[in-house]
Amino acid sequence: MAILDIIEIPDNRLRQISKPVERVTDEHRALIADMFETMYDAPGIGLAAIQVGVPERILVIDLQRPKDPDAPEATSEAEAEKIEYVHDPKVFINPVITWESDELSIYNEGCLSVPAQYADVDRPARIRATWLDETGAAHDAELDGLLATCLQHEMDHLEGILFIDHLSKLKRDMLLKKLEKSRRAKAA
Ligand code: NI
Repeated sequence: MAILDIIEIPDNRLRQISKPVERVTDEHRALIADMFETMYDAPGIGLAAIQVGVPERILVIDLQRPKDPDAPEATSEAEAEKIEYVHDPKVFINPVITWESDELSIYNEGCLSVPAQYADVDRPARIRATWLDETGAAHDAELDGLLATCLQHEMDHLEGILFIDHLSKLKRDMLLKKLEKSRRAKAA
C-alpha cells in the first residue's frame, strides 16, 4: 500500500469527467487500498479516484464516527489522537443516484482538494443509489445522513464538480481568497 499525492485546486484534472469501470480487477483493488490509506492519512472521510489522478468512477468513504459520541470534544492534538473511531470502509464503483428526496439537508463540507476550507452546502437529505463494491457485487440502497451527503459530494468529483461550485460567487471567491492566504502563510 502507498500514500498517494492528492491533487488540489486549481489543477485541471479535477475538472475531468471520470470513466466507468468495465470490470473490477486486482489493479482496481490495489488502487482502492491505496485510496483508503491516503484518505486516512489526510485525514478525510471520502476520496474520489480523480483526486489521486485516476479518472475512473471509483470512490472510497469511511465516516469514522467516534466510538463514544457523547465524549467531549478534544481540546488538544494529544487528546484528539486518543479518540477511538468506528471504521466502516465503503467502496462505490460506478455509483448512480436513482432517486433523491425533495427534502434538503445542509452540511458544512470540506474537500481534500480544497484544503482546510469549509462551507455549507444544500443537498437532498435522502437518496437511493446503485453501485458496485470492490468484489464487483451490485448494491441498491437508500442512504441518508452524512453518508448520503458524502456520497453526493464524492459523486460530484466524477463529473468534475467541486463543493465550491455549489456556492454563490461571493462565497466562493471569499473561500478561494482564504485558501490563497493559508497557502502563502504555509510557504513563508
Ligand atoms: Ni471532495
